[in-house]
Amino acid sequence: MRLDNQTVIITGGASGLGAAIVKRFINEGANIGVLDRSESGCDQLREQYGERVVCVSGDVRQFSDNEKIVNECVETFGKLDCVIGNAGIWDYNMTLVDMPAEKLTASFHELFDINVLGYMMLSKAALKPLVASNGSMLFTVSNAGFLPNGGGMLYTATKHAVVGMIKQLAFELAPHVRVNGVAPGGISTELKGPESLGMDNAKFPGEKMASSAKNFVPVGELPTPAEYSGAYVFFASRDDNVPSTGAILNHDGGFGIRGLGPVPRGGDDLLSKL
Ligand SMILES: NC(=O)c1ccc[n+]([C@@H]2O[C@H](COP(=O)([O-])OP(=O)(O)OC[C@H]3O[C@@H](n4cnc5c(N)ncnc54)[C@H](O)[C@@H]3O)[C@@H](O)[C@H]2O)c1
Repeated sequence: MRLDNQTVIITGGASGLGAAIVKRFINEGANIGVLDRSESGCDQLREQYGERVVCVSGDVRQFSDNEKIVNECVETFGKLDCVIGNAGIWDYNMTLVDMPAEKLTASFHELFDINVLGYMMLSKAALKPLVASNGSMLFTVSNAGFLPNGGGMLYTATKHAVVGMIKQLAFELAPHVRVNGVAPGGISTELKGPESLGMDNAKFPGEKMASSAKNFVPVGELPTPAEYSGAYVFFASRDDNVPSTGAILNHDGGFGIRGLGPVPRGGDDLLSKL
């Protein structure tokens, strides 16, 4: 399951999950393009990975920025094999009750524009080189793409929209381009919120989530960004993704099997009982 000589674009590759995917893909032999709004993040990636990475500092909401990273990748590395839509923002669990009515329109557009339109812009910009290479698209979903309470109504709605988008694109682009998703659970990152809600510099409660994970994540811990990255290698791998399109991996530490009541656990003394 190596990615030698594959060219892969990752949006939001300057931080958190995206940065871990970049690192893992470089180690697997891929050349990488990143589109991220952080200019300093781009500088750091260039310093870290040299000629193996090209980075455009821009906004996933702009078609021209998506086009730029696609063109730069094809010019630099000769082709494009996979794009990973990953850049996103969260709504910090903003409920309908707490949402100020006068901020609903702007925050709706900001969350949907970054989390959904951004993925569509990338898909459109990358279409021709991906069809030419028989490549694939991959998108970061979330447990919030399937279940409530992984965010507020806006974030949850955006991630459900991404699930629908993946299925529709998988249908439209078969058999030329495979389209799949990875739905991670909680990750300790720098995930920001919408500017329109004054949350663009908010501090994501990642450390708190990590320290209390035993109480709410069935696998008993909050996986690290690096631990999530293997699933992306699997779906990007031309050898291993052959049967997959329209597939979304619930890669969330087991939120789907929590059931009612406390987190299902065998107990710390399970082995001694056997
Ligand atoms: N952190 C979690 O608990 C969690 C859980 C499930 C899913 N996710 C998803 O993982 C993905 C990555 O988030 P993360 O947790 O690594 O957060 P992060 O903030 O650490 O990384 C996101 C990156 O996206 C970039 N970005 C944001 N908006 C952008 C825009 N408009 N244009 C260009 N770049 C932009 C940021 O600069 C940043 O580098 C998101 O799609 C998020 O919804 C996160």
